[in-house]
Amino acid sequence: MADAAPIPLGLIESLRSARRICVFSGAGMSAESGVPTFRDALTGLWERFDAERLATPEAFHRDPSLVWGWYEWRRMKMRLAQPHAGHRALAGLERRAAQLTVITQNVDDLHERAGNTNVLHLHGSLEATRCVRCAAPFALPADIPQEPEGGRRIEPPRCASCGGRVRPGVVWFGESLPMPILQPAHDAAAACDVWITVGTSGLVYPAAELPLVAARAGATLVQINPLPTPLDAHYDHVLSGTAAQCLPELFAQERDRASLQPGRS
Ligand SMILES: NC(=O)c1ccc[n+]([C@@H]2O[C@H](COP(=O)([O-])OP(=O)(O)OC[C@H]3O[C@@H](n4cnc5c(N)ncnc54)[C@H](O)[C@@H]3O)[C@@H](O)[C@H]2O)c1
Ligand SMILES: [Zn+2]
Repeated sequence: MADAAPIPLGLIESLRSARRICVFSGAGMSAESGVPTFRDALTGLWERFDAERLATPEAFHRDPSLVWGWYEWRRMKMRLAQPHAGHRALAGLERRAAQLTVITQNVDDLHERAGNTNVLHLHGSLEATRCVRCAAPFALPADIPQEPEGGRRIEPPRCASCGGRVRPGVVWFGESLPMPILQPAHDAAAACDVWITVGTSGLVYPAAELPLVAARAGATLVQINPLPTPLDAHYDHVLSGTAAQCLPELFAQERDRASLQPGRS
């Protein structure tokens, strides 16, 4: 983190004494693993669309092979990507410290592949596909899809029970977030001592709401982003840098401080 400001001592102390920590991640968390953001994912076949016109139930209904092909291409990108040092730092935190809840808007599985076990996917998961008609889960083949750069149309598979089309397991624009995920995310926010937002502009509900729940409950709020966000004023600490830079540095400094003060837990 050569160019970033030093990490404030007060933040290190808050982390050291925290019993419950929440990490709230968005697309920026996966950027350094090479997972394309929505805008980057609109290449080739899809470049004349915008994400709001592909990631909707109406788009899937109108042109299922266009939408399914886009998601298969994104799933390939995700499967080829590897967790980075920031993901590994969060897995290390879970192994050695406080109760950690990762609340992510990402539909990839990079937090899990790094080793985190308590991950709430607010916007679903690329792998959790299901039938549009009867909602039966559909098991995708285990091997990595081989999709050409630029993309292609692919007819979605059919449900074995009812013959309905299989759809991506993500929350599309216009759909509500699943309560079995949103409720525990809300509870974790209300109960945490430290809240760390990383790689999200945090403007859309519930992105905008959850950090405020944590703030009202008295948590220390930390923002990690290379760019300013409109919500920075709500945060106690703003670390200007990337996920792969700031997260390892933050927890390394916390560990160093712990080893200097062996009397404290
Ligand atoms: N990997 C995925 O699962 C994936 C990919 C594309 C989109 N999405 C989802 O689609 C929605 C909209 O996404 P979006 O792409 O507009 O992003 P977003 O609105 O969540 O904003 C991304 C933020 O990340 C910051 N950022 C960029 N690089 C970063 C880095 N290396 N480290 C830390 N922060 C960084 C940007 O400054 C920006 O504020 C969100 O729900 C998002 O999570 C998910
Ligand atoms: Zn079905």
